[in-house]
Amino acid sequence: MAEYETILVEQRGRVGWITLNRPQALNALNSQLASELAAAASAFDDDEGVGAIVLTGSERAFAAGADIKEMADKSAHEMSMQNPFAGLETFSRLRTPVVAAVAGYALGGGCELAMMCDVILAADTAVFGQPEINLGVIPGLGGTQRLPRAIGVYKAAELVLTGRTMDAAEAERAGLVSRVVPAAELLDEAGRVAEVIASKSLPVVYAAKDALRAAQQTTLAEGLRLESRVFASLFALDDQKEGMAAFREKRAPEFRHR
Ligand code: CAA
Repeated sequence: MAEYETILVEQRGRVGWITLNRPQALNALNSQLASELAAAASAFDDDEGVGAIVLTGSERAFAAGADIKEMADKSAHEMSMQNPFAGLETFSRLRTPVVAAVAGYALGGGCELAMMCDVILAADTAVFGQPEINLGVIPGLGGTQRLPRAIGVYKAAELVLTGRTMDAAEAERAGLVSRVVPAAELLDEAGRVAEVIASKSLPVVYAAKDALRAAQQTTLAEGLRLESRVFASLFALDDQKEGMAAFREKRAPEFRHR
């Protein structure tokens, strides 16, 4: 496994773990971290032995946003020509499902990174927000697009325009997180969710993720057409035959593609 300086990477069974590791900066996302994250996530994505990824930070911070100190003096030209965060968008293109395990601050780019994941588990200590307006900028990693889709336009507008943050309970009520768990149980629970996903048929999981992603990006009519095509195509897989045979025979399925 490659050596990284700003993240910790480990494979446990069929689950790839990536831990953001810049504690001195509350895991602020600098260009090195962005490119290391992209490399580690892509390597897991290319590995058929990995069926799910957990992305997490520290107890204090998932990530407190893009690294303000690194970008403060950059020109508009530099930001557009050498976008230091471009690598992070990799997370929105992975075929492997990613479970974000969020404790502490998930602000700005940290909140946006969590929203690129498929499942967001939040510790009861989690704090979410898009405070970029306080820095004289706007969200730059999808916050103005994914947040309204996740929590509705009016709540998203209030957060983006005021910079106010939400605690875990409010984030759960708003629909930003899949579930809130006690902080001490966050990593175990994230591991359990990832293991369940990784135990399913890999091509079927990819198909389910693709269809779910379409729900964020297409019209209802297009999404329904895509779902129906993908659903029918899965009947070409041995794993569909196995899954349904196992149901009839009252036993657990043994998927080949996992
Ligand atoms: N960038 C760089 N360094 C950061 C950082 C960030 N986003 N967030 C925290 N740090 C650093 C602090 O500068 C501090 O370092 P020093 O000790 O060297 O000064 C260290 O992490 C600890 O932070 P604090 O002392 O500030 O800790 P705190 O508990 O008092 O406050 C906090 C925590 C409320 C999260 C506060 O650090 C904060 O407001 N951070 C910035 C949050 C923010 O504005 N994020 C948006 C960034 S812009 C963005 O993300 C753009 C985009 O969409 C791509």
